[in-house]
Amino acid sequence: MKAFEVRNSFGIDSLTLVGKPEPSPGHGQVVIMVKAVSLNYRDLLIVKGLYNPKISLPFVPFSDGIGDVVSVGEGVSRVKVGDRVAGIFMQKWLFGEVTEEKAKSALGGGGIGMLSEYVALHEDGVVHVPGHLSYEEAAALPCAGVTAWHAVVEHGVKPGDSVLLLGTGGVSLFALQFARMSGARIIITSSSDKKLEKARALGATDGINYRSAPDWDDRVLELTGGAGVDLVVEVGGAGTLPQSLRAVRMGGRISLIGVLTGAEGEINPRSIIMKKIRVQGIFVGSGEMFEAMNRAVSLHRLHPVIDRVFPFEDAREALRYMEGGAHFGKICIRVN
Ligand SMILES: NC(=O)c1ccc[n+]([C@@H]2O[C@H](COP(=O)([O-])OP(=O)(O)OC[C@H]3O[C@@H](n4cnc5c(N)ncnc54)[C@H](OP(=O)(O)O)[C@@H]3O)[C@@H](O)[C@H]2O)c1
Repeated sequence: MKAFEVRNSFGIDSLTLVGKPEPSPGHGQVVIMVKAVSLNYRDLLIVKGLYNPKISLPFVPFSDGIGDVVSVGEGVSRVKVGDRVAGIFMQKWLFGEVTEEKAKSALGGGGIGMLSEYVALHEDGVVHVPGHLSYEEAAALPCAGVTAWHAVVEHGVKPGDSVLLLGTGGVSLFALQFARMSGARIIITSSSDKKLEKARALGATDGINYRSAPDWDDRVLELTGGAGVDLVVEVGGAGTLPQSLRAVRMGGRISLIGVLTGAEGEINPRSIIMKKIRVQGIFVGSGEMFEAMNRAVSLHRLHPVIDRVFPFEDAREALRYMEGGAHFGKICIRVN
């Protein structure tokens, strides 16, 4: 079988197509013929050696993949040959709270990666995916979908709440869809007026161009009558957090997810205290959350927003395209 490995050094150019033996299922395992994978910003950071430079080379990257089960090992009872399944981002975080051990089981971080024609996973580490989705749409779910679900739905967004989303990447557009499903008002920022138009077509109530309006937090306050929003889905990190703290209401929440503008910065704790803001770090989510999200995705016939699908051989181009930031929603690769 074919797979991509990051070989002798980190970097997009080191991503190399290699031949590897096809896996066979061990006890409790299923072998999946991978049909599609989706890219996450984490994959880009991992390939470039910026996420965890201690990962030993070579390794197969990418956390999110979906495919058909082609064989099952002894003792497998939940999954059968022919089922369409996706790998859970953290193979051992099935339910309850996350622990260090569960966090270490994340796919695409040096252990098992999905940028491969076949993978073997434990049956507990896969979930069935909604039947109305294409392979590419389903491949978008494991990281970006579950993270947005965790940030919005698991954190109790209610009809009438206001939610601020930063940018129009994979996580933010899933958050838009789940916030809309929850009946919330959605304010979204973007560097592009065209992307804001598309976000409005998906149900965003208000759009702010953070390039032409760098004081976007003031605009959010204006739009909410000076009060601020109930929830910020924070994917920007150090460069946006101070403004997110201004844009959230007293007693509001910030789901802290991403580091698009960097991970190092200074935070003034005063506003967190004086506004009684709840800042909650989010690290994707559990298999239980994945299944709850899939039920909602099926019921509401929701389709993830796919920007572009690349052929398998063009994995490097797909990463460079993500690096360029022109995308709206998810970038996918068709594998088999
Ligand atoms: N903690 C977790 O569990 C978890 C899970 C998933 C992702 N993440 C993190 O969340 C972040 C987003 O991930 P993703 O996969 O959604 O990335 P993505 O699809 O690559 O999103 C990129 C988009 O972010 C927007 N952006 C960039 N700089 C911005 C800024 N200064 N202000 C507002 N928006 C900005 C841009 O939108 P416009 O083009 O519209 O300007 C850009 O297109 C990353 O840092 C990722 O590592 C964390």
